[in-house]
Amino acid sequence: MDVTVFSTKAYDRRFLDEANAAKGAPHRMRYLDVRLTEESALLAAGTSAICAFVNDVLDRPVLTRLAAGGTKMLALRSAGFNHVDLAAANELGIAVGRVPAYSPDAVAEHTVGLILTLNRKIHRAYARVREGNFALEGLLGFDLKGRTAGVVGAGKIGTAVARILAGFGCRILVHDPAPTPEICVAGAEIVDLQTLLASSDIVTLHCPLTPETRHLIDGNALSLVKRGVMLINTGRGALVDTRALIEGLKTGVIGYLGLDVYEEEGDLFFENLSDEILQDDLFARLLTFPNVLITGHQAFFTVEAMTAIAATTIDNLTCFEKDQRPRHPVVASARSSAVGGSGNG
Ligand code: NAI
Repeated sequence: MDVTVFSTKAYDRRFLDEANAAKGAPHRMRYLDVRLTEESALLAAGTSAICAFVNDVLDRPVLTRLAAGGTKMLALRSAGFNHVDLAAANELGIAVGRVPAYSPDAVAEHTVGLILTLNRKIHRAYARVREGNFALEGLLGFDLKGRTAGVVGAGKIGTAVARILAGFGCRILVHDPAPTPEICVAGAEIVDLQTLLASSDIVTLHCPLTPETRHLIDGNALSLVKRGVMLINTGRGALVDTRALIEGLKTGVIGYLGLDVYEEEGDLFFENLSDEILQDDLFARLLTFPNVLITGHQAFFTVEAMTAIAATTIDNLTCFEKDQRPRHPVVASARSSAVGGSGNG
């Protein structure tokens, strides 16, 4: 099948080419580095399938243009599909496939990396030592053992985070309307969100973005947390209200902030913008705090996850070509696809 692949980098091409070759190269991949927008949708004309990533635009106008050009299938290289107008896709006869799970451990391990870095201030120590500054003032951390970690959303990733943090000797609190059975094995206590916020030294977000979870952490939620809390978001940018976070950082309510996602990341992440003037004032303000650590949506980015994403994407395309249905179709009632779909990644 001919496939136009949007938003690709060299690493996407490498893993997709390997996965395609492993199956005898059934698909002809046309790689584009541009993001999918209403304008760039024209570039897919004549190909039966397109492949898209998390910051591609997949609203009704784009899907209409794709359908007019002959697109019959959309293969998402992500678990999340909150950026897809599923009703429009359905009406236009475009089947949507996704990668429901690739490596929860990749995201969980990055999450714990943010926690350890922020706590022991490794990001600051790295810069200091390179400048010949070996002073310890300002680098004081705390033992994770005995601390309380609150995991919001205990699906695949949240469960993996809970397991790792339990290994450090943390007490684990979980808030999830439908926790996995495995979370109980991790020795976690299931509590309501208020209790979790009031009792946790570390709060880490792993629920999908839905209308209910948008700005889950806002000024009101921050009025409940322990002063100096560590807040980690590797879930989805809009789970937090960035303005409220900045206020929380200024007043010391938030003692540490680790982000891998940002509400307006579509204009920033995955690109080298180092020669440009940053236009996003909220993002710029976040970067001024010494106790804020931001990574650019890289939590998923491991060899294992990229291999799994590519293999599942090729499989989705092959199944669609054979049976007119991807192996992993987007089903609105799926566990991870509460209203609005799951988040990025
Ligand atoms: P999952 O579907 O296995 O788990 C999500 C859990 O959240 C479920 O147990 C669900 O019951 C729970 N949940 C739903 N609404 C909730 C609420 N209001 N409060 C608390 N919990 C709630 O999803 P998975 O694979 O663990 O991924 C979680 C999220 O991580 C994704 O939705 C995505 O946004 C993000 N993600 C980020 C990546 C990155 O690179 N930064 C990569 C992959 C995923």
